[in-house]
Amino acid sequence: MTLKLGVIGTGAIGQEHIRRCNNVLQGAKVVAVSDINTDGARAALQRLNIDAQVYQDGHEVINSPEVDAVLVTSWDPTHEEFTLAAIAAGKPVFCEKPLALSAEGCRRIVDAEIKHGKRLVQVGFMRPYDAGYRALKKVITDGEIGEPLMLHCAHRNQSVGENYTTDMAITNTLIHELDVLRWLTEDDYKSVQVVFPRTTSKSHAKLKDPQIVLFETQKGIRIDVEIFVNCAYGYDIQCEVVGEEGIAKLPEPSAIQTRKNARLGNALLTDWKDRFIDAYDVELQAFINDVKAGELTGPSAWDGFAASVAADACLKAQNSGGIEPVDMPSRPDFYAR
Ligand SMILES: NC(=O)c1ccc[n+]([C@@H]2O[C@H](COP(=O)([O-])OP(=O)(O)OC[C@H]3O[C@@H](n4cnc5c(N)ncnc54)[C@H](O)[C@@H]3O)[C@@H](O)[C@H]2O)c1
Repeated sequence: MTLKLGVIGTGAIGQEHIRRCNNVLQGAKVVAVSDINTDGARAALQRLNIDAQVYQDGHEVINSPEVDAVLVTSWDPTHEEFTLAAIAAGKPVFCEKPLALSAEGCRRIVDAEIKHGKRLVQVGFMRPYDAGYRALKKVITDGEIGEPLMLHCAHRNQSVGENYTTDMAITNTLIHELDVLRWLTEDDYKSVQVVFPRTTSKSHAKLKDPQIVLFETQKGIRIDVEIFVNCAYGYDIQCEVVGEEGIAKLPEPSAIQTRKNARLGNALLTDWKDRFIDAYDVELQAFINDVKAGELTGPSAWDGFAASVAADACLKAQNSGGIEPVDMPSRPDFYAR
C-alpha cells in the first residue's frame, strides 16, 4: 500500500521533503499540498514534476479523505495549530522543528496525543538518524569510552541574514543540539547558563554572535555548545564526548582530500541541506515505515516538549546572565522509550 501524504508549507524544506518522498523514498507519495502562497506551491510542484492537489488552507489537507498522513513544513508559528488538527483528525503527523513556539504549546500537543491514546506525532529532529551521531552513540552505549563526563560541541553557520536575532540562536539553531544531546547522553538538562564572548564584526545590531551555552545534566555531565552563526568559513557541526576512559568525536563528513601548492586540504560544507541530506532521507523513510507498521518510534512530541523546556531556560539565561534551572517534568509512561 502506498501511503498518501499531505504537505503543509512548500518552502525550502517542504520542497526538499516532497522531492525525497516522491523520488527517493519507498512506499509513499505526496497527493496534496498547501501553502498560503498557492502560486508558489503550484510552481514548486511543476518544477519537481509532481502532480498533487493544491489547497490554500492546511486544514483542507489534513481533512482530505485522500490524505493518510501529514507533513508540517510551514513557518514555526503554524506548527502547533496544524499538529493539533492532525491529532484531532486521528492522522499521523511529521512536524518540522520546533514542535511549537513555547513549552506550553508543546505540552498542549503532548496532552492531546495522550488523550488520543496512541502516538501520532514525530518531530523533525533528524540528527538521531545521522550515521555519524549513531556511530558516536554506539561508542558511548557500548562503554568504549566509559561514562561520559563532558561534551564539547559547536554549531557554526557561515552567515545569517539581518532577520536572525539573538534568541533565534536558541530557538532555531541550538534546538537541534537540545534534542540530539539528550538522545546521545540519555540524560536531561538540569541547568543552563549563556555567556557572550566578544561579538564578531560580521554580525549586526540585533544579534550577539557567538554565544556559548553551558549545561549541567541530571547525571552531572557538563556540556558546552558554541553557537557561531557568522563564522565565515563554512557550516560546521562538532561534538566531542570526553569519557572516563577515552574521547569520542563526531566524524567529519566525507570529503575529497587534495594535495596542491604545498598544502593538504579537505573541502568543508557550507549548506545545512548537504550536511544532513542522508539523515533527512532516513528520518522520513522511518516515519513512512512506522506509520505503515502502526507504531511511531522516532523523536516524539515529548522530545519536542523537552527541547522546548530547555530552550525556554536558555532564553531566560540569555537575559539574566545567571545559571537558570531547566524544570523538566518527569516523562509520562506513554512516552517510555
Ligand atoms: N529539520 C531541519 O533541519 C530544518 C531545516 C530547515 C527548516 N526547518 C523548519 O521547517 C520550517 C520551514 O522552514 P523553511 O526553511 O522551509 O521556510 P520557508 O520560509 O522557505 O518555507 C515555509 C513555507 O511555509 C508557508 N506557510 C507559512 N504559513 C503557512 C500556512 N499557514 N499554511 C501553509 N503554508 C504556510 C510559506 O508561504 C512558505 O512557503 C520551519 O519551521 C523551520 O524551522 C527544519
